[in-house]
Order: sequence, then C-alpha cells, then structure tokens
Amino acid sequence: MKIRVLGSAAGGGFPQWNCGCANCREGRRGWGRARPRTQESIAVSADGQSWFLINASPEIRAQIEACPALWPRADRHSPIAGILLTNGDMDHCLGLLSLRESHPLVVYATEAVHAGFTENNVLYRTLERFPGQVTWRPLELGREQPLGDGLWVTAISAPGKLPVHLEGRRAPSPEDSVGFLIRAESGPRLGYFSGIAGLSPEVEAAIAQAAVVFFDGTFWSSDELGAAGLGTKRAEEMAHWPIGGPQGSLPFVSRIAGRAFYIHVNNTNPILIEDSPERRAVNDAGVQVAHDGLELDL
Ligand code: MLT
Ligand code: MN
Ligand code: ZN
Repeated sequence: MKIRVLGSAAGGGFPQWNCGCANCREGRRGWGRARPRTQESIAVSADGQSWFLINASPEIRAQIEACPALWPRADRHSPIAGILLTNGDMDHCLGLLSLRESHPLVVYATEAVHAGFTENNVLYRTLERFPGQVTWRPLELGREQPLGDGLWVTAISAPGKLPVHLEGRRAPSPEDSVGFLIRAESGPRLGYFSGIAGLSPEVEAAIAQAAVVFFDGTFWSSDELGAAGLGTKRAEEMAHWPIGGPQGSLPFVSRIAGRAFYIHVNNTNPILIEDSPERRAVNDAGVQVAHDGLELDL
C-alpha cells in the first residue's frame, strides 16, 4: 500500500492565517526551524493508479497539485476513486465543496457524518448538480468493507465529539468520529486515528493490528491554548488527547509496533519546532511527526 501525506496540520493549518504566535512566526520564516503544513489529509493506494483520500481538507486543490499521483490522466479524469471521512469537522469536509467541477465523487462516511454534512446545508446543493454526482457509501462500525481497487477498510469508533457547528443541534453518537484500519490484499495494515479523545478497547485492538499508525498529535498539553492566551478550551474539551505529560499519549504511541506518526498537529504545538525539547522527546520515544509530502510504502 502506498501512503502520501497531503496535509499534516490541524484545523487552520500551519501557520494559521490569523495567528502571530511564536510558532506561526517561525513557520513564516522560510522554515528554518518549522515546516509549514496544510490541513490534515492523506492519500492511499494499492496499485499507485487509483487513490483514496482520507478527509477532504479546505486546501484540497493545492494538495492535489502538490501530489503528481493525483493529477488527471485524461482531459477529464481524476485518479481519486473515493474519499473517506473521519468526522464532520470543517477541516475534514470543507474540501468536498471545492470538488464541485461536475465530477462524480464517491464518499465513505458513517450515517451520522453523512447527515451532519448534507442536512440543512444549502451549499451541499453544489454537489447535486446532476444525478449521481455524489455516491455516499455508509461506513459501518467494526465491519471490514471493500473500497475496491484492492483496498479494504474497517471504521472504528474513536472517542470524539460532534463538530463545533453541530454542538447542541443533535445528540452525540459513536459514529461522530472514527478511525480506520486499511489493508491492501493480505498486506500490513495502516491505522489512522487523527482525532481521538482517548483510548477504548476497540481502538486498542485495532491499533494492535496496524504496522503503521497515524495518531492525533493536535496538542502537546491540555492547557496549550489557554497558556498561550490563544483560547479557553482545554485539549480534552476538544476531544484531543494531548501528547505530553504523565497522562499524555506518547507512552502509548511509542509502544505501537512498527512505525507511528503524529498528525493533525495544531499550530500552537511545540513539536512543530524541529529543535524543541518536545520534538526531541517525541523522536527519542521512536515516534515521528508527519509532514506534508511524506511518502510511505507499506
Ligand atoms: C478539531 O479538530 O477539534 C476541530 O477541527 C476544531 C474546529 O473545527 O475548529
Ligand atoms: Mn481538526
Ligand atoms: Zn499560531
């Protein structure tokens, strides 16, 4: 299986347009100490011809242009055979609306994420320009499903929450946020858990089967936004398990067999600074920080 990291930052990207924090200033300095990153999305393929995206970020057009494998091979064509959504957050869905140039799309999502994106959304009508413009394929929790073109996926409920724009509008559900196990034929599995509030027996069992794991690296610490004066919410209120400290995810992630990468990294996270003590702690634990353009062959 081929894996291409299209974007590795959390919502807002890095640097974030309205942020002048120390990290973002470093990111604007031509990346001596911190590499700019677009919002989280990866592409996977069994054969290198047909690709599936995990998440459709607001920066999807630039991400496709930066990845030649995703370029059209005919006057009207796309190697993108499907798009899988981990949840309904804007940083994961907004890109769908950018793919409105009358191209048939296949989108895999749980019923909760599908409904959250399409109901009462007048902008969704831009993807209803002709019958069959979007084919939604339901992801069922815990059941392996074929994607076609040699890939299989299992969606696993990931402790999470409703997207910010749906909070208070509907009841939370285990389908609001998922992670994926993906395999090509009988090859090794990719585990993808880019947004996760903490562990569950299902998540632990899934990750135990994965040879490579991408994991929620949004925040280093719980009070990262508050301490920097950039917000009031703690990491846990946003359903992101922080990396650092005795309760952090690093000891768990560092025990994951094979290779592990933090992804969905927020612009405030000190691991973005390549020579920071926090980045060193992550690397010393055997974990890497995903970056845009990273290519892996499983
Ligand atoms: C998140 O990852 O918590 C969300 O992307 C936050 C947001 O939608 O602003
Ligand atoms: Mn996000
Ligand atoms: Zn910033």
